[in-house]
Amino acid sequence: MSFFAGIGLLERGSVRCPQCSPSAPTPLHPRDRSLVCRAGHRFDAARQGYVNLMVGAGTRFTADTGEMIAARERVQSSGLYAPLKTALHELLPHGPLLDAGCGTGYYAHGLDSESVLALDLSKHAVRRAARLPRTLALVWDLWRPIPLAEDAVAAVLNVFAPHNFPEFARVLAPGGSVVVVTPAEGHLAEARELGIMLGQAGDKAAALDAAAAETGLRRDGRSVVEARLETEPGVLADLAFMGPAGHHSTREEILARILEARGATPGGPPTAAVTARFEISRYGLTGSAAGDRPASGPMSR
Ligand SMILES: C[S@@+](CC[C@H](N)C(=O)[O-])C[C@H]1O[C@@H](n2cnc3c(N)ncnc32)[C@H](O)[C@@H]1O
Ligand SMILES: [Zn+2]
Repeated sequence: MSFFAGIGLLERGSVRCPQCSPSAPTPLHPRDRSLVCRAGHRFDAARQGYVNLMVGAGTRFTADTGEMIAARERVQSSGLYAPLKTALHELLPHGPLLDAGCGTGYYAHGLDSESVLALDLSKHAVRRAARLPRTLALVWDLWRPIPLAEDAVAAVLNVFAPHNFPEFARVLAPGGSVVVVTPAEGHLAEARELGIMLGQAGDKAAALDAAAAETGLRRDGRSVVEARLETEPGVLADLAFMGPAGHHSTREEILARILEARGATPGGPPTAAVTARFEISRYGLTGSAAGDRPASGPMSR
């Protein structure tokens, strides 16, 4: 059985070679443990099952480190993000999915998708996402053209990651959805009050809608999911460290700041509640954007 067996997007030729010209798009096909195009470009799978399509291509973005991804995994196993996962599973269709900025693949895990293309700049992230069934996990910069054919997916999932709306609209099949999750007002307020978080609390909803609308994506729905959990200082430190703060401080430095602010010692730290608030925005192609395309569904490629 082929190393990449069961990945519908690959079997249908929907995954494109990034080194061939966009004006003459060429599909990537599996050959042993590699992906190859008919022009002879070849990308080998890493031992952990992911494929790096960025070979020879530079990016100005800094990927999350292995320690940051491990912190994200600990936060996710704390259960704080579980209600968001449940809400997303209720929303996402069975058809092929693009998980844009997949991280560890936490949200695609357990989803009954026909196949998943999981993209992230961090190899530490995609090596985890590569363990999921029917998933092709690629190291890729989301600000570059997404290596997928037009209309290839029934849904795009984009959780706390860069939103390349023009590309999301291009690869989305008519009738499909782009599901974007951003931090809602009050997200991790308790951690922000401690001064350990870096970066904005989130995109303004109106700005997100406007950016989507420019590419022919109209908002079909918006909801807020809230979760509250009693956490130990270690989880709070992970929450900060897995975000932008992780590029500037060590986890130990962040933990020390939390303990100092709480007047606690590492031996007997009190727990404290933390509230996560997520905004889920769902977009579909407007009539004209969808009408510009041939009437093919995501399953027909
Ligand atoms: C906040 S994490 C969210 C990950 C995942 N969606 C989750 O919620 O668990 C942001 C992710 O986006 C990735 N990322 C940031 N910039 C990127 C880019 N230009 N292209 C691809 N991935 C990027 C990071 O490596 C990181 O895994
Ligand atoms: Zn090629």
